[in-house]
Amino acid sequence: MSADHGHEDEYHDELIAFLELVWGEGYLSPGGAEEVARVLEGVDLSGLSVLDIGCGSGGITMELVERYGAGHVTGIDVEGGVLKRARDLAEARGLSDRIDYVQVEPGPFPFEDASFDAVFSKDAMIHIADKEALFAEVFRVLKPGGVFVASDWLISHDGEPSPEMKFYLEKEGLSFGMASPERYNKALEGAGFTGIALKNRNGWYREVARGERDAIAGELYERACEAAGKAEVDKNIATWNAMVVVLESGEHCPHHLRAVKPG
Ligand SMILES: C[S@@+](CC[C@H](N)C(=O)[O-])C[C@H]1O[C@@H](n2cnc3c(N)ncnc32)[C@H](O)[C@@H]1O
Repeated sequence: MSADHGHEDEYHDELIAFLELVWGEGYLSPGGAEEVARVLEGVDLSGLSVLDIGCGSGGITMELVERYGAGHVTGIDVEGGVLKRARDLAEARGLSDRIDYVQVEPGPFPFEDASFDAVFSKDAMIHIADKEALFAEVFRVLKPGGVFVASDWLISHDGEPSPEMKFYLEKEGLSFGMASPERYNKALEGAGFTGIALKNRNGWYREVARGERDAIAGELYERACEAAGKAEVDKNIATWNAMVVVLESGEHCPHHLRAVKPG
């Protein structure tokens, strides 16, 4: 539990260790550098000041600087544990002067209007249920002409989740506030964005997640137990088994998102 606000920490050390073993150092979401490259395809971040919402342990935040030439990145997260890990990794890679990590409270961002040239996020906005308020904030902190580029985990509809989806969410146990592509689209439009584009990544992650599940239960199992403890690994095998079902039905549908604040 973080000391100064109501958010209950969810990404504890065992979960961070486990996810980084599956997804790579500093990554708390799937796909590695290749998937980040697909999210950012055609976007030029060179020299820009970028906000990374829900930066986690910062593997991607560092990539925005190292590989994509961002001038400066501000990574925000609600959890102190992931931010400590992110700061340690950035320091070890000599990137501390180009990255600021800021612990924030859920809700409005602690930044002035038009503070950033670009806003990025990878698989973190799923934790923010109020998409309308979120995109109004993203719009506010972007400079005119700025781009919003992201990946996130969506649900295919805004009705009652299927029993399989409820079972998956229960196994996951994290505070997810999933919404449909239609709701994301409307919320982005309502905030004032133009050039809105959503791309369904279910077909990709459906395949990848099956392989992850097999690896966790197979060749990675012993190493994962050493890194994160058997209880964490067994819990996650159950989570992945439940997730594969809702990926196969299409109800769990990760998307790439793009939008532009009119100049
Ligand atoms: C699945 S992890 C993804 C981390 C990172 N973007 C990556 O892809 O490796 C989601 C992150 O979002 C953070 N998060 C949850 N709610 C948030 C909020 N309201 N504002 C900012 N970050 C939040 C979590 O603490 C966690 O570190």
